[in-house]
Amino acid sequence: MKECVVIDGVRSANARAHNEKGWFRKVRPDQALIKIYEALFRRNPKVKPEDVEAVFCGSANQAGMQNDIARLAWLAGGFPDCVASNGINQQCPSGMSATEHAARAIMCGEGDIYIASGVEDMEKVPMGYAMDFSPRLWERYNPAEIPMGNTAEKVAELWKVNRKDAEVMAYWSNKKAAAARDAGKFDKEIVPIEGEKEDGSKFMVKADQWIRDDVSLDQMATMKTPFKENGVVSAAVSSPLTAGAAALLLMNREKADELSLEYHIKYAGGAMAGCDPTIMGVGPIYAARKLLKRAGLTAKDIGVWELNEAFGSQALACLRDLGIAQNAPFDHVNVWGGALALGHPLGESGCRIIVTLNNIMKTDFKHAKYGVAMLCGGFGNGNATLWQRVGK
Ligand SMILES: CC(C)(COP(=O)(O)OP(=O)(O)OC[C@H]1O[C@@H](n2cnc3c(N)ncnc32)[C@H](O)[C@@H]1OP(=O)(O)O)[C@@H](O)C(=O)NCCC(=O)NCCS
Repeated sequence: MKECVVIDGVRSANARAHNEKGWFRKVRPDQALIKIYEALFRRNPKVKPEDVEAVFCGSANQAGMQNDIARLAWLAGGFPDCVASNGINQQCPSGMSATEHAARAIMCGEGDIYIASGVEDMEKVPMGYAMDFSPRLWERYNPAEIPMGNTAEKVAELWKVNRKDAEVMAYWSNKKAAAARDAGKFDKEIVPIEGEKEDGSKFMVKADQWIRDDVSLDQMATMKTPFKENGVVSAAVSSPLTAGAAALLLMNREKADELSLEYHIKYAGGAMAGCDPTIMGVGPIYAARKLLKRAGLTAKDIGVWELNEAFGSQALACLRDLGIAQNAPFDHVNVWGGALALGHPLGESGCRIIVTLNNIMKTDFKHAKYGVAMLCGGFGNGNATLWQRVGK
C-alpha cells in the first residue's frame, strides 16, 4: 500500500446563505470552487492541473447550480478536460467521502495526485431541493422525524442533552472561532473571494460571516425552538445555512518526496457507519468507534478532534458517548471553533474540517500524533477519518 499525505488545503470563508444578507449571494458555488482550485495551484506551483489524476468533489444537493458541479466547475474553470472528475454525495459527509475516495485511490496506486473538495451554497440550492422521496420510505420511517432539526431534538431527548449545555457549546464555539480569526489562524486556509456586504458594497471576503462576536448565553436562552415546543434546538444551537467551498491536495508520499514537497499528516483510515435516520446526528459515534477499533486506538490516543457541529445536541451526544469530553469549553475538540459558529455548507464541511485539522496539527497541536475529523449526515450516515503525523 502507498501512503497518502496532505500537501495543502484551502477553503473559502463560510458566508451566510441568504439572498439579501449573504456575502456570497452573487457568487455561484461553481465560481467559489474554481477560485479554491486556482488558489491550490497558485500555492503549489510544482503541481500542474494536468498532473492531477482525478478530482473528487462532494456536494449534498446535486441539482440546479450544483448539478454535476464536480465536472462542470472544473471545466468552467478552464482546467484540462483530460482530468477526470467525480461528484460524491453522502449528504453532510460528502466532502469527507470525496477525501476518502481520493486517499484510497492513492493508497491503491491508481494515481499519485488527487484533489478532494466539497462545496455547497444552501441559498442557491436549498436543502432538499428537487427531492422526491419514495413512498416506501414512509412505510419504514415517520416523515415527521426526518427533518434535520427534528432529529436533533430526538437526539437531545435520547442522549439527555439539555438546552443549557447545548448553548454553552454554541457560546464557546463562537468564542473560539472569533479568537482563531483574530489571531489569524484561518489566514493560512481562507482564500479571499470578492463578495458583497449587506449594503451592496464589494469587498474581499476573508473571514467567516456567521461568527458572533456578541454571543450571549442570556440572549440564547430567549430564542425560539422551532422544531419542538419547549425544545432544546434553537437557531443558536443549529449550524446556520451557509455557502462555502474547500479543497485538499492529496498525494502519494513517494511522489511528494520526489517533488520535495512538505507534508505533516497522512490518511490513516476512514470509517463510515449507518444509523437510524431519525437520529442521524449520532452517526459519528458509530463511525468513530469502528475507526478507532480498526486502528487499535482508543479515544484517549487522539490528540485533537474536529467534529462538525451540525447541532449542539448531536455534537455533545457524540463527544459524551465516545468519552471524549462532557461539556464545552473543550481543550482538544474544535479548537478553532465549530460549525455552530463557522457555519455548515453541507457538502463542504467534511473537507473543510480536514483542511482545518491539518492546519491545527501543523501549528497549535504539533504534539498530537493523531487527529480525527468526523461528521454526521442527513438520513443516517456517519463518517470519520484518522490522520497521523508524519515527519520529514
Ligand atoms: C435553525 C434554522 C431553521 C434557523 O433558520 P432561520 O429561521 O432561517 O434563521 P437564521 O439562520 O437566518 O437565523 C435566525 C436569526 O437568529 C439569529 N441568531 C442565530 N443565532 C443567534 C444567537 N446565538 N444569538 C442571537 N441571534 C442569533 C440570526 O442571526 C438570525 O437573525 P438575523 O436574520 O437578524 O441575523 C436553520 O438555521 C437550520 O435549519 N439550521 C440547520 C441546518 C441543517 O439542518 N443543516 C444540516 C445539519 S445535518
